[in-house]
Amino acid sequence: MNKDQSKIVNLPAGRQGRKSKFKRYTVTAALPYANGPLHIGHLAGAYLPADIYARYLRLKGEDVLFVCGSDEHGAAITLRAKKDGVSPKEIVDKYHHLNKKSFEDFGIDFDIFHRTSSELHHKTAADFFKVLNDKDEFVRKTTEQYYDEEHQQFLADRYITGTCPKCDYGNAYGDQCEKCGSSLSPKELINPKSALSGNQPVLKETKHWYLPMDKYERWLKEWIIDGHKDDWKPNVFGQCKSWIEGGLKQRAMTRDLDWGVKVPLEGAEGKVLYVWLDAPIGYISATKQWAADNDKNWEDYWKDNDTKLVHFIGKDNIVFHCIIFPILLKAHGGFILPDNVPANEFLNLEGDKFSTSRNWAVWLNEYLDDFPDKQDVLRYVLCANAPETKDNDFTWRDFQARNNNELVANLGNFVNRVITLVHKFYDGKMPDGSEKDTVEDTKLLDKIMDAYDYVEQHLENYEFRAAQSEAMNLARIGNKYLADNEPWKLIKTDKKRTGAILNNSLQIAAHLSILLAPFLPSTSNKIAGLLNLNKSKLSWDAEDVLLKSGHQINKAELLFAKIEDWEIETQIEKLQKAKEKAQSISNI
Ligand code: 2FM
Ligand code: ZN
Repeated sequence: MNKDQSKIVNLPAGRQGRKSKFKRYTVTAALPYANGPLHIGHLAGAYLPADIYARYLRLKGEDVLFVCGSDEHGAAITLRAKKDGVSPKEIVDKYHHLNKKSFEDFGIDFDIFHRTSSELHHKTAADFFKVLNDKDEFVRKTTEQYYDEEHQQFLADRYITGTCPKCDYGNAYGDQCEKCGSSLSPKELINPKSALSGNQPVLKETKHWYLPMDKYERWLKEWIIDGHKDDWKPNVFGQCKSWIEGGLKQRAMTRDLDWGVKVPLEGAEGKVLYVWLDAPIGYISATKQWAADNDKNWEDYWKDNDTKLVHFIGKDNIVFHCIIFPILLKAHGGFILPDNVPANEFLNLEGDKFSTSRNWAVWLNEYLDDFPDKQDVLRYVLCANAPETKDNDFTWRDFQARNNNELVANLGNFVNRVITLVHKFYDGKMPDGSEKDTVEDTKLLDKIMDAYDYVEQHLENYEFRAAQSEAMNLARIGNKYLADNEPWKLIKTDKKRTGAILNNSLQIAAHLSILLAPFLPSTSNKIAGLLNLNKSKLSWDAEDVLLKSGHQINKAELLFAKIEDWEIETQIEKLQKAKEKAQSISNI
């Protein structure tokens, strides 16, 4: 598709942006387990695209609520606590605060980062379960389940590991194989082993509440297969289709554990809600908390058909957000369903999967120790390489190249050049732009306004890489405009025309601070600061002329610094050492 075809509307200069057909937006990002620190793969998968989307909507003046929080229940937490010899509460407290800070450090601007261990969440999830139970939406069944005799505990989900019957992966969990993505039940595992003792488990009877997902097959076919074929990403749609067509089974919604939301029924002592029932309800309880804190009505964000609900997740969460949670919402009644679930594929690191146990990761907190003030560089590189349609690779060499060749040489260079020239020739005051009658200048203004349309169209389609690239293209256009017109030479012969050229260039810089704001928020702020730009002008519906003649700008400061070879080599060595250490441990 060429660019002209891809344009939705041809808006005139000084345009009013496209109006959304929705009254408000609820944007969610997968609640990360509070069982360890976050790495750059997490950021790339769900949080960065969600943040870009929410920031863009806010710039458009939309009513948007962006929620997230810590997922503090389930085996991920209790197993980690056991491994560290501490209580689950100590684990979730530690990682909730660490992860909250990492998100803040990288400008992931949630309206609320809540917790599923909160009282409000426990009540919300328990009430939700009670409604389903009262509506007879569960089937109560007593079945035989694996049990660890040494630890006197039933083994579900991650408490049991074994070989995946679908792909032969040796370390599949009782609920899911992380290698092939298949959803499993513990009894399907070949050679099952308890994650607590390593022993072979025995079978023992227990009673649970099951969700008869098969009852919703027809409805899911209509809603997803017929209704979202064209607007959901092919990877998401394909996974849902094969799930639905493969036949849905009954799935237990309770567990025999003491850590989690207690099942709110008599005769259910010692049982908690299945973490995948409780966690997505965390989006709702986070909304309730935010609404209470901000004098809003939470139901507007979950129960009004004019609200657009979008879930940002990684591909391992697709079934939970596209099938199980929607069934729960539908069964409960009164809730809206997700309009889209733009799940990303996985990011790899230097050609290998991220792995906590092998320490094959770039941890967000460690990145900041080595690259303080380079949050936007990481955001930029992760967005440019986002695993939107297939798994993708992060490499330190690519990180360096994108910083040096794109951020420094293109964006930083353009903004720095134009500000320096305006100080050199016009004492830092916006020159008069009245000589803008050349064909080239008219085209330039069109290109600026077109950039909004291109970026907007890609963002509306959840194409974040392309959107960022279109925004950056405006800096390229600015550099070319300067190089073609050479104001530093023209000043000797035609001061008026030079003024118009620099006026145009500064307008481009000002528009870059808006267009790049969703992607590079701190750089956008810096540009706005350098240009002394009134914050109220920072809106997606900006007029073409953002800075008036005579407007005083501030002195140039570099936006980005070159990354040297040694800095990258240090990172590569650090990874190499982690790999060697992990290998030596596994050889013992
Ligand atoms: O996969 C995970 O990290 C889960 N903690 C995501 C939960 S998303 C939502 F449902 F809460
Ligand atoms: Zn598998």
